[in-house]
Amino acid sequence: MSRIVYVNGEYLPEEDAKISVFDRGFLFADGVYEVTSVLGGKLIDFPGHTARLERSLSELDMAAPVDMDTLLDIHRELVQRNQVDDGLVYLQVTRGSDGDRDFVFPDAAKVASSLVAFTQSKPGVTESAASKSGIRVISIPDVRWGRRDIKTVQLLYPSMGKMMAKAAGVDDAWMVEDGEVTEGTSNNAYIVVGNRIITRQLGNEILAGITRAAVLRFAREAQMTVEERAFGIDEAKTADEAFVTSATTFVMPVVEIDGEVLGDGTPGPVAKRLREIYLDESRKAGI
Ligand code: PDD
Repeated sequence: MSRIVYVNGEYLPEEDAKISVFDRGFLFADGVYEVTSVLGGKLIDFPGHTARLERSLSELDMAAPVDMDTLLDIHRELVQRNQVDDGLVYLQVTRGSDGDRDFVFPDAAKVASSLVAFTQSKPGVTESAASKSGIRVISIPDVRWGRRDIKTVQLLYPSMGKMMAKAAGVDDAWMVEDGEVTEGTSNNAYIVVGNRIITRQLGNEILAGITRAAVLRFAREAQMTVEERAFGIDEAKTADEAFVTSATTFVMPVVEIDGEVLGDGTPGPVAKRLREIYLDESRKAGI
């Protein structure tokens, strides 16, 4: 059975799904996206993802192709049709196609934005080997544009970052600007020093992770100390622990940065505890 994907109002087998060669997502990376995790067939943090999607669209003067209730129906329909238990739903909105290549945005009244969504099944994702061993990262310069708070599909540099990590024989990369860590290639970055959880404050420099918001809320509820501030790559290398968060990794321990081993080189207690809390609470709150 082939995967059923959603394209502009239709549910189609993936091989029949088509988008114009003039689609501005394809030509200009003129599009935004969301990744919502699915655990036990339920959508995790869905209201957070739609709120961020609406913000991304509005920052780029892009029209929402459907209302957010319809988006929920589409997500549920895809999960159900593709029998996703653990996995994710990827959603992308682009400024559509006006049948030619032109830098100037088309008139939104004439050219509808385009909506594509598909699922990825990831059986056993919460018990991954990486979550048990922790991951190793290298630091790379952050050369992305200045509006990283908008979740655009311009993912070439994050993709290159993953390749740099692969070439270095590690799992991922942390991006650094002016000596300070911004975020991971596709996740938010944290260090733990003593009993303090430190992660960069929100701003244009990083994406406001939906998992980040939930994890910081759970940490505070568990009486842990959270500091939202920039931290240096040097501070990170001498931290007691580190971890990253995202909809695809939840809370993932980091055990090595640029070859410097953190603690005893195994996932630290804070990361392990936050991962447990996040997964437990998310499963309960999934819709
Ligand atoms: N990436 N920072 C960046 C640059 C990201 O790409 C992501 C998510 C995050 C974490 O956001 P959230 O907690 O809402 O997933 C932070 C997704 C998972 C991706 O591109 O696949």
